[in-house]
Amino acid sequence: MLIVRQENSNDYDEVYKVVKTAFKNAEHSDGNEQDLVVRLRNSEAFIPELSLVAVENDKIIGYILFTRIMIGKSEEVALAPLAVLPEYQRQGVGTRLIKAGHRIAKEKGYHYSVVLGSENYYHRLGYNEAVLYGIEPPFEVESKNFMAIKLNESKEKISGIVQYSKEFGI
Ligand SMILES: CC(C)(COP(=O)(O)OP(=O)(O)OC[C@H]1O[C@@H](n2cnc3c(N)ncnc32)[C@H](O)[C@@H]1OP(=O)(O)O)[C@@H](O)C(=O)NCCC(=O)NCCS
Repeated sequence: MLIVRQENSNDYDEVYKVVKTAFKNAEHSDGNEQDLVVRLRNSEAFIPELSLVAVENDKIIGYILFTRIMIGKSEEVALAPLAVLPEYQRQGVGTRLIKAGHRIAKEKGYHYSVVLGSENYYHRLGYNEAVLYGIEPPFEVESKNFMAIKLNESKEKISGIVQYSKEFGI
């Protein structure tokens, strides 16, 4: 049975390997995503409840992290990275991790999550081009690849440029 739960310090080594392995053959990767996770865990942007592992038979098969960002004057979250071990991909694990993260982020009072990635993947999960919400990337990117989801319908539109934590090196 697949369980999604908060990561704890005993998981760090396994998560490192999962992220490294998942991104090894990924289309868009700098090969350092596993080290980004280590840096983000030690940063002010880290939100422990939004560092989640997918576990099957006591084995970590997937990982997702949402960290704090600013959009204009509003504190929101960014999804990065998301990783599922190759042999467990296309079985809904990534979807489960994203949905769990959105629910927790909403409970914690965040209104938006942003992501840089494949529109084919994230549109299915409710993401749309961020510019539609007035949210702009802090770097040059095709607008279809910079996406946002509104987690809380009652929140009015916010506008601004996303400010990532310095650990992203942007
Ligand atoms: C992207 C990733 C997390 C998806 O996880 P997953 O558990 O396989 O995803 P799900 O099973 O929830 O969803 C599968 C669906 O997403 C789509 N999909 C999966 N990977 C995709 C990709 N790389 N690009 C586009 N669409 C993709 C497919 O349409 C698939 O549906 P299908 O099997 O019916 O065709 C996983 O492939 C992965 O770890 N990739 C390497 C790391 C990476 O690129 N991470 C994303 C960084 S933004």
